[in-house]
Amino acid sequence: MNQPNELIWARLLALASSTAPLEPADRLVEMSTFWRLYAPVAGGAADPAYVIGQLGQSLDGRIATPTGRSHYVNGPESIDHLHRLRALVDAVIVGTGTVLADDPRLTVRLVAGPNPARVAIDPGGRLPDTARLFADDGARRFVIQASERRRPAGVTSITLAMRDGRLDPRDIVAALAGHGLRRLLVEGGGKTVSQFLSAGALHRLHVTVAPVVIGSGPVGLSLPPIDRLEAALRPAVSVHRLGEDVLFDCAFD
Ligand SMILES: NC(=O)c1ccc[n+]([C@@H]2O[C@H](COP(=O)([O-])OP(=O)(O)OC[C@H]3O[C@@H](n4cnc5c(N)ncnc54)[C@H](OP(=O)(O)O)[C@@H]3O)[C@@H](O)[C@H]2O)c1
Repeated sequence: MNQPNELIWARLLALASSTAPLEPADRLVEMSTFWRLYAPVAGGAADPAYVIGQLGQSLDGRIATPTGRSHYVNGPESIDHLHRLRALVDAVIVGTGTVLADDPRLTVRLVAGPNPARVAIDPGGRLPDTARLFADDGARRFVIQASERRRPAGVTSITLAMRDGRLDPRDIVAALAGHGLRRLLVEGGGKTVSQFLSAGALHRLHVTVAPVVIGSGPVGLSLPPIDRLEAALRPAVSVHRLGEDVLFDCAFD
């Protein structure tokens, strides 16, 4: 898949910000591969919010090395794709493990588009105030926690009750929707995306597979065990080429 042309990307950004109603002349745009891949995200609507997860993994299902290095499992086209997803959503969500391993900025740097709000799930208050996603750069910043803790100035903390030792992803989605964040990207890591999927809180999942075998290290998806394959999740899937990587666009809605 090539870069989207400027017209299509501008239409997708407009759809995401709901500022430009689509015109009849957009039929050709609607037929393009890019539109079909990104419009469900840009126009995604659900009550209380539309949620997409993403994972970049190796052929053997790993998202990082055993020492937590994930830069970069995937190739440059997939990284551009990740930045496009960020630009189309209201907020990006990551777990503590990702912040501690990668210290990500979660900004849109490789494509044109707005920076999303940033959300860290940090039930036990393990994240340092100096984490880059807390940096005051104009984007809204949130932390989901299980007990009160002082956070850096300007960071909104949302305290939720734990259920069975974890935060229910549906509670997280509802709380963020209450702050006007209605299109959410769960960017990682594997544990966080898995918990959203397991809770039935993902409408869509993008799994980008790179032609590399890491051989050990954290896996992407890990769900409670099932006995029979009939119980396996079988989303509707479309497949796209991103450079040397293959993107599985999985629809659960
Ligand atoms: N390839 C990719 O696409 C990609 C993307 C992102 C990250 N990564 C890599 O993935 C690795 C980290 O992934 P990971 O799976 O170990 O960790 P993770 O998913 O980033 O974070 C998991 C932690 O987040 C908190 N958390 C998330 N959801 C929760 C919930 N529903 N309830 C309670 N706590 C919740 C918990 O923190 P506490 O432990 O503090 O309770 C949990 O242990 C890093 O090496 C990173 O580089 C890869």
